[in-house]
Amino acid sequence: MTKALRSIVLIGFMGSGKSSVGRLLARESGWPRFDIDELIAAKSGMPIRAIFAKLGEEGFREAESSALEKIDGAQPSVIATGGGIVLRPENVRRLRALGRVVWLTADLDVLRQRLSRRANRPLLQTRDPAATIGALLAHRHKFYKDAAEFTVDTSGLDLQQVAQAIRDELRIAQ
Ligand code: S3P
Repeated sequence: MTKALRSIVLIGFMGSGKSSVGRLLARESGWPRFDIDELIAAKSGMPIRAIFAKLGEEGFREAESSALEKIDGAQPSVIATGGGIVLRPENVRRLRALGRVVWLTADLDVLRQRLSRRANRPLLQTRDPAATIGALLAHRHKFYKDAAEFTVDTSGLDLQQVAQAIRDELRIAQ
């Protein structure tokens, strides 16, 4: 299989646009789409927040690894992940085996602004979400960097531009 025909795997912090860009890339390429958070929520019959409340972060991480393990890698697809998936080395190995791993980044201020719009992220339900974002990012930076094949800074880009930057890098014609 040539490199261009391998799946596109989107990683990055909450608010970096993985799910939205994944939806767009899948729609425009006709490739199947897998969104790990959606798969976890569908399998457990609960939204992510409820899974965290019931099972804690560790329980969620188990469900996350298990959902990733079950993805059918037989045909090229677009795979959007949750922001913490890179924390487990076995997840990173699996992501890299599935396809080309793209790290969507954004400036800290941009992430803070995007994430302030919705209160649906359990890890950000703290007294000072802006500080939590900074701390989590600092901790995770190395994990994203080590997992990714290349990076797209989404800060000043709309979804179409991010999708195009990914296709350009992967030399995929629309
Ligand atoms: C998480 C990110 C979320 C979701 C869960 C945990 C994280 O996904 O998987 O709330 O640890 O960063 P998004 O990155 O799509 O928000």
